Amino acid sequence: MALREIRVLGDEILTKVSKPITEMKPRFEELIDDMLETMYSTGGVGLAAVQVGILRRIVVIDVSPEQDSPMVLINPEIIEMSGEQTGVEGCLSVPGKTGTVTRANYCKVKALDRNMKEQILEGEELLARAFQHEIDHLDGKIYVDLVEGDLMDATQEIEEEYEE
Ligand code: NI
Repeated sequence: MALREIRVLGDEILTKVSKPITEMKPRFEELIDDMLETMYSTGGVGLAAVQVGILRRIVVIDVSPEQDSPMVLINPEIIEMSGEQTGVEGCLSVPGKTGTVTRANYCKVKALDRNMKEQILEGEELLARAFQHEIDHLDGKIYVDLVEGDLMDATQEIEEEYEE
């Protein structure tokens, strides 16, 4: 496993649409392991492959307080959303900044796991926010375009609800 370099805002790759995975290959297995290691090493709770420069539809998420419950989502698709939540988000690709974003409070996702087996995942609040934030990355969208008001400097006074 290895840490991968995080691409930051201004890097054109972050605006591109990622391609689906049709077959699991050793290089994707390695990518998933590296993404998990990179996410954990930065203290983030989610990461999309495009953020490490690979345009493939892979997302890793772990919103557990102990950071011991990794989720791997391949070709994820949101199949249901409801309700609304407003909270502060941050993103590893936008270092030092945060912003207020309103998203669905509940989100149901269909995805493949790392064995290419279909899984249905449901989340509310933080997990629902993670699904939406990360799946947006696969479509070349970054949360800064959804921010209400101004992007703020990340300070300790502003507590982020979702910090990648
Ligand atoms: Ni992000």
